[in-house]
Amino acid sequence: MVFILGGGLILAVACQSSANGISPPATMQPEPILPGMPSISEPAGTPTPKVPPLPILDADEIALGRRVYTDNCAECHGENLEGESDWKKQNEDNSFRSPPHDASGHTWHHGDDVLIESIELGGARLPDNIGGFSKMPAFEGVLTDEEIAAVLTYIKSTWPDDTRNIQWEQTIREQVQ
Ligand code: HEC
Repeated sequence: MVFILGGGLILAVACQSSANGISPPATMQPEPILPGMPSISEPAGTPTPKVPPLPILDADEIALGRRVYTDNCAECHGENLEGESDWKKQNEDNSFRSPPHDASGHTWHHGDDVLIESIELGGARLPDNIGGFSKMPAFEGVLTDEEIAAVLTYIKSTWPDDTRNIQWEQTIREQVQ
């Protein structure tokens, strides 16, 4: 039995020790890589679901996603997914700046379902009481489900494997909750 952990660490354990599907130990949960970012770790003792191997990204889907990104996202998130300068600061009108989607941002802290919802609903999904607002448009009905999935695949294709592993584990964790 092989478990793929955040950080690209691959841990092989005997099958009988994982018969209950609980792994890995809480002490091996990924820690936040960026200072000041919230940890995506579960509280100690929370069982982590079995994580299937990291999927291989489809080259045609990446190519479609790159086109969708250039046409719809690059004006705010940057041609090279670099985000706006000083993106952690807010604009004078209190609007949030567009974060990067490369590995220097925090897109990879969220599982697929959260990211797809963010793209579908845009800034309207954010609660009123968070001290700012987002000008990101909603893409539900503008892009097809296939295009939204493809743009996410393109974004993932720019991340190193250890970053992708953490995001993949988070995707699985969100799905079983
Ligand atoms: C008009 C500018 C604008 C456009 C166009 C735009 N975004 Fe955004 N986006 C933002 C801003 C500002 C934020 C930060 C506030 C928020 O979360 O809504 C954001 C946040 C996000 C997030 C959440 C990231 C996180 O880590 O929480 C995702 C995912 C995202 N954008 C994807 C996209 C994709 C994919 C496209 C193109 C299909 C796109 N955005 C187009 C401005 C934009």
